[in-house]
Amino acid sequence: IAEECAEHLREATRGGRIRALITVFAPDAPDRPAPRIWNEQLVRYAGYPRPDGGVTGDPRNIGLTDAARRLGWPGGPGTPFDVLPLLVQDAGSRPRWFELPEDAVLEVELTHPEHTWWRSLGLRWHAVPALSDMCLEIGGICYPAAPFNGWYMGTEIGARNLADTDRYDLLPVVAERLGLDTRTDRSLWKDRALVELNRSVLHSFDRAGVTVTDHHTESRRFLTHLGREERKGRQVGADWSWIVPPISASATPVFHRTYENVERNPAYVHHPEALERARGAGDL
Ligand code: ARG
Repeated sequence: IAEECAEHLREATRGGRIRALITVFAPDAPDRPAPRIWNEQLVRYAGYPRPDGGVTGDPRNIGLTDAARRLGWPGGPGTPFDVLPLLVQDAGSRPRWFELPEDAVLEVELTHPEHTWWRSLGLRWHAVPALSDMCLEIGGICYPAAPFNGWYMGTEIGARNLADTDRYDLLPVVAERLGLDTRTDRSLWKDRALVELNRSVLHSFDRAGVTVTDHHTESRRFLTHLGREERKGRQVGADWSWIVPPISASATPVFHRTYENVERNPAYVHHPEALERARGAGDL
């Protein structure tokens, strides 16, 4: 499974010309639950709590990092962007860890279209978002290991992963370097830092030749899709809070309307109880 996940990443990455792919491993059987992948995504960065109360890396993955360590992973070099090993569990036993081969993980170093010092922030992100802890449900059959990927929309990285206060929390760092007045909210230093961070993501992916979309393009494209489907008599469900981008919402057309709440099958679903059960059975 780990080997095929690495192959999935290679075939999805194609040096930057990203292709949407899914890989479907064995489903749950009545007498035997399927193997599962503990990682939320195939590529995730480790999170190491520090003695000073801070975190090196991605705070979101502290639990996974800890599980990997308990399973014998020696830990990475300790940078803010150490790629975690895959944790793959066969039904009923402890997961095993597998380092991802270097050639399976493409990353983009962040630079900025104007600020040459930006590179010295040492920021980077991985090219391919590949969800690996959701269950593909088809006709009542659950495929718990069915990693799938698309390509990034810049805001996922620039407005959430690197900006959220419970993730990399970089707005104060960026604002400081930009020389903004961080003493008062009213200088809109967070807003301005967000824009520059997002410009840096789009600029860097473009320069590296890695597929990425932006929230303006994708909003338009989504509404085109909706219109097309509706004309064919097919209802499309959507959740406003997932469709509207986390920055510049009102500058995109998706903000100014509502969406039907219909769910379709087959679907990718979260089974948190099953994951908990599996983790219990893993018994670290
Ligand atoms: N938001 C998640 C992340 O930043 C990825 C979710 C899937 N995104 C996608 N563009 N297919 O890692």
